[in-house]
Amino acid sequence: MSGYTRYNSKMWDAWSEQRNQWTIPLSHEEFLKAKAEPPLIFLTPEKTVPLAWFPPAGARVLGVACGGGQQGPVLVASGYEVSIMDLSDRQLGAERLVAAREGYRIDTVKADMTVSFPFASASFDLVVNPVSNSYIEELDNLWRESFRVLKPGGALMTGWANPLLYLFEDAPFEQEGLDFVCKFPLPYNGRKMAEAGMEVRLDTGYQFSHTLEAQIGGQLRAGFVLKGFYEDTESASPLARFTSMYAADLAVKPA
Ligand SMILES: C[S@@+](CC[C@H](N)C(=O)[O-])C[C@H]1O[C@@H](n2cnc3c(N)ncnc32)[C@H](O)[C@@H]1O
Repeated sequence: MSGYTRYNSKMWDAWSEQRNQWTIPLSHEEFLKAKAEPPLIFLTPEKTVPLAWFPPAGARVLGVACGGGQQGPVLVASGYEVSIMDLSDRQLGAERLVAAREGYRIDTVKADMTVSFPFASASFDLVVNPVSNSYIEELDNLWRESFRVLKPGGALMTGWANPLLYLFEDAPFEQEGLDFVCKFPLPYNGRKMAEAGMEVRLDTGYQFSHTLEAQIGGQLRAGFVLKGFYEDTESASPLARFTSMYAADLAVKPA
């Protein structure tokens, strides 16, 4: 674990205490509903993943940076055998809380997605990675390790932020009517900004934008074949009037 990833995990612990929307675990009623439905999971804020992207029930699924008791319980309710890896103690605790309440077993593993994943090669049918790579500086390890732990024919589904989000200061995102003015050259690098003197606060942590070459080219370089793609938004954000804000893709490890 590097200094900035440790800081970000503490930030996610703090966000979990403040009940950030990505840290609120499924309720009992939502879990019962999920059992009666197909797997309706989110990689990005608003659209659910196309059902055609899922393997049959019974498949082994690894959620990477996926704690919080949100996507994990839905995957369990849909009949998958699920392991959840995350770096935040509280996000992993939320997974265990739902599992204990609903009476199922789930593997929770504290690990950093910027280093080797603590799983054997070719052990999962599916890797699920909701938007989270804005919290890491370099993506190649994420793509390489996801590829390694997948069985041949297995798939990675991953969500990511439109890099354009990082061109602007925070204020126009938070207050209607302010102009979005291009301020930060891309790719945005929170760690280098901190080295250059920017204050790092516990409400934003170290964030990073990534080029499309690092996102899409990186998955292809790791050996994946891209099979699916969609864009998504966050309707409440003033920026949503101008552009899509998120994307998700399905990347398959050739059989
Ligand atoms: C937007 S949340 C995704 C989980 C959310 N509950 C969901 O279902 O969409 C981002 C997650 O990434 C995790 N995370 C951030 N940096 C990480 C790292 N270096 N390694 C592993 N997990 C990390 C955070 O702890 C957080 O749980």
